[in-house]
Amino acid sequence: MATSGILLVLFLFAHMTGNLKIFVGAEAFDHYAAWLREIGSPLLPHQWYLWIQRGGLTIAVLAHIAAATILARRARAARPVRYAHRPKVQGSYAARTMRWGGVIILLFVVFHILDLTAGTVNPVGDPHHPYANVVADFAPSRWYVTLFYTLAVVAVGFHLRHGIFSALRTLGQRTPRGERNARSVALVLAVVLVAGYLSVPFAVLTGLVS
Ligand code: HEM
Repeated sequence: MATSGILLVLFLFAHMTGNLKIFVGAEAFDHYAAWLREIGSPLLPHQWYLWIQRGGLTIAVLAHIAAATILARRARAARPVRYAHRPKVQGSYAARTMRWGGVIILLFVVFHILDLTAGTVNPVGDPHHPYANVVADFAPSRWYVTLFYTLAVVAVGFHLRHGIFSALRTLGQRTPRGERNARSVALVLAVVLVAGYLSVPFAVLTGLVS
């Protein structure tokens, strides 16, 4: 769970940093997207690195879901008799929404790939001009797309807050002080990620990026 999660978090930070290039301008953003297809050149042919990364991410997502299923089964097996009384509040909101949060994120990623990678559901959908795709996507008239992205990114934030905390515990932060630190680190990283991602659609919505 922790190893696949860490890989996915690394991707999320790299992707967020790349997205912020939109504030430099259309040429810089489109050039960055073109560079993504040339990483490893001339050793690797065109787009090979991207496909290796896609394969790696798919394996990490599948491993993450498999580990979650195994852990849930193990937890259920450890307590075959259901609790007669189950206290309502158990853990933070982030901890209690991991399963459904994960499903929402997965559905969002499918829509997001159709939107900004394949371009099928994007008003422009030009693979050579991702800047134009993003600006068209979050235009004020398409506020519902921005709303959907906002909900999904906030879901990612909650998922990460609990996920990073759990991963840090798995990796040894089990003392009360370690847990306190792990909680703070997880909160800061989740907030930075949510703010970084949301800055792009909101910059388009408010006309800062056009
Ligand atoms: C508002 C936030 C976001 C924006 C503006 C954004 C923007 C983009 C753009 C422009 C692309 C296409 C890049 C290209 O083809 O060169 C892309 C691809 C992608 N994004 Fe996002 N993204 C956002 C949030 C997210 C989130 C939260 C996730 C994951 C949970 C995510 C996962 C992906 C994936 C998996 C791809 C496909 C990469 C590939 O082609 O292999 N994105 N995004």
